[in-house]
Amino acid sequence: MKKVGVLVSGRGSNLQALIDAARRGELGGEVAVVVSNVEAAPGLDRARKAGIPAVFRDHRGKKREAYDAEIVDILRAHQVDLVCLAGFMRLLSPVFVRAFPGRIVNIHPALLPAFPGLDAQRQAWEHGAKVSGATVHLVDEGLDSGPIVAQAAVVVPSSDTEDTLAARILEAEHRLYPRAVRLLLEGRCRVEGRRVIVEGE
Ligand code: GRF
Repeated sequence: MKKVGVLVSGRGSNLQALIDAARRGELGGEVAVVVSNVEAAPGLDRARKAGIPAVFRDHRGKKREAYDAEIVDILRAHQVDLVCLAGFMRLLSPVFVRAFPGRIVNIHPALLPAFPGLDAQRQAWEHGAKVSGATVHLVDEGLDSGPIVAQAAVVVPSSDTEDTLAARILEAEHRLYPRAVRLLLEGRCRVEGRRVIVEGE
């Protein structure tokens, strides 16, 4: 069984989508450990409720590389095949990225490369985009800049508020992330430069 490690800083609804997909046998593996830099992150409770090891590691007062090395150790101890960032509010240092080459993914609530960074749903809404969505991408050392594994588009009707748009994007995220993780765990993705070639797509 392939193993996934999930990193969260907050709510953890995408983590829940991964857990639920694994339970249904639709993830291509299992969530083996959940790690958070925020002690009160609801995502940690979701893990505990699902019987998954939930680890809190405080980043405060630590150098980025030292902190990342601790997280890498935890993930290695759980022998994870893939690392999923799910609302993990920290940039990864080269130490981290190089420890899992091509095996770290993130979900971003916009159609990258449009609207990287924080508050992507608000950025899209304020910009007046008519279509936005969600992106699962490999993580490199930049901000939301790695090769794209999968995307889902959502339309942005004029009646949308920032909140209704964010909710619609979140629903799309919950469908997209497990699908993308499955493609990766099944070894159906190959990276050619910036492009992720998906077998059978
Ligand atoms: C999601 O919108 C995700 O795209 C972004 O952070 C948010 C996390 O939400 N990276 P949740 O913690 O998964 O509910």
